Amino acid sequence: MRVAIVGCGYVADYYMQSLPLYKALELVAATDRDAGRAAAFVACHGLSCLRASLEEVLADPGIELVLNLTDPASHYEVSKACLEAGKHVYSEMPLAMQMSDAQALVELAESKGLQIASAPCSILGETAQSLWKALREQRVGPVKLAYAEMDYGFMHLMPYRKWYSKSGRQWPYEHEFEAGCTVEHAGYYVNWLTAFFGPALSVTAFSSCLYPDKRTDVPLAGAGPDFSVASIRFVSGAVARLTCSNIAPADQHLRLFGDRGILQVQFALDYKAPVFIRRMFNIRRKMIISPWRQKVRLAAMPDALPLPRKATNRMEFCRGPAEMAIALREHRRSALPADYCLHNNEIVLAIQRAAQRSDTYRMTTSFAPLEPRPWSA
Ligand SMILES: NC(=O)c1ccc[n+]([C@@H]2O[C@H](COP(=O)([O-])OP(=O)(O)OC[C@H]3O[C@@H](n4cnc5c(N)ncnc54)[C@H](O)[C@@H]3O)[C@@H](O)[C@H]2O)c1
Repeated sequence: MRVAIVGCGYVADYYMQSLPLYKALELVAATDRDAGRAAAFVACHGLSCLRASLEEVLADPGIELVLNLTDPASHYEVSKACLEAGKHVYSEMPLAMQMSDAQALVELAESKGLQIASAPCSILGETAQSLWKALREQRVGPVKLAYAEMDYGFMHLMPYRKWYSKSGRQWPYEHEFEAGCTVEHAGYYVNWLTAFFGPALSVTAFSSCLYPDKRTDVPLAGAGPDFSVASIRFVSGAVARLTCSNIAPADQHLRLFGDRGILQVQFALDYKAPVFIRRMFNIRRKMIISPWRQKVRLAAMPDALPLPRKATNRMEFCRGPAEMAIALREHRRSALPADYCLHNNEIVLAIQRAAQRSDTYRMTTSFAPLEPRPWSA
């Protein structure tokens, strides 16, 4: 499928890392409203598909799918323009910063017979799929409680000014700190939790900015949360506690508690990270969690090519767009359907909203149940 990249910033270089792994995607255009940024990007990757503007991309009838890799505040306007021009859209997260905008995008896509999906696509990774399978097989018994951590460490004390992408884009710390830890990171586990447990009923969250001074050399429009914690209640009866922070030491554990043990993953951001089982048993009058971890066999995606060894990010950002392209070719529902992405967006925004209102938010959207990928069976 002929695709265009709109927004040639920091994350666009990560997309380029995994693009060669997916034959379903043919990159035919790249543009950015910052002409210098677009030029540096195409030069770095040896591309000859530079386009002067979004309008030029949209006017090209050969382009079927647009990867919207702009900053979160631009997602809505760019995705809307693409849909109006008849293009399918794969957007970086979030779908939109306002739920009404995200809903409008999904309705617009539906009305035009187009697909829209948003990152992250980590549910399509070998780790998430294998964990999902182990959960469905009740390898640790039925699971009613999950604990998910998305802690990144003291980000504002890290040498973030020295972080540059391959094509030379400095890590956009203003956007990252303004959006905050929830919008930037909660999605990585929200998209697993909803796939595993189904639609959420409510979100009870607390969110705060504990370090408003992020030591930036330009003033921020306002720092977003650097800590949030949410209890997500699912219609199925399960509950998940998700913590995000840009303060506590890096910890990205996910633990699913069953009455025979724990299913756990240490890294959400590596699609091939191991999945472990720790058994629970009684010895005399005590219940013990085994200190030994048993590895779950990782499902293998057919025809999967390995990421280059030098890859600076273990996430395969192009797996989501590639799945969309294949689903469109096969005239089937994508494994990242719009209703699921919209629901995930609502959960993330409900946690974000807790900075103003720390009450229980009742979900307004739902989605048709998802199935693991056939190759994970
Ligand atoms: N930086 C990361 O490590 C990272 C990781 C995962 C996901 N993301 C997500 O990826 C998205 C992009 O983040 P980034 O870090 O690459 O930001 P960035 O600021 O480096 O890049 C965004 C680019 O989009 C361009 N842009 C904005 N509006 C545009 C428009 N209307 N038309 C054309 N170009 C436009 C900007 O000029 C900029 O070059 C965000 O949603 C972010 O949450 C970022």
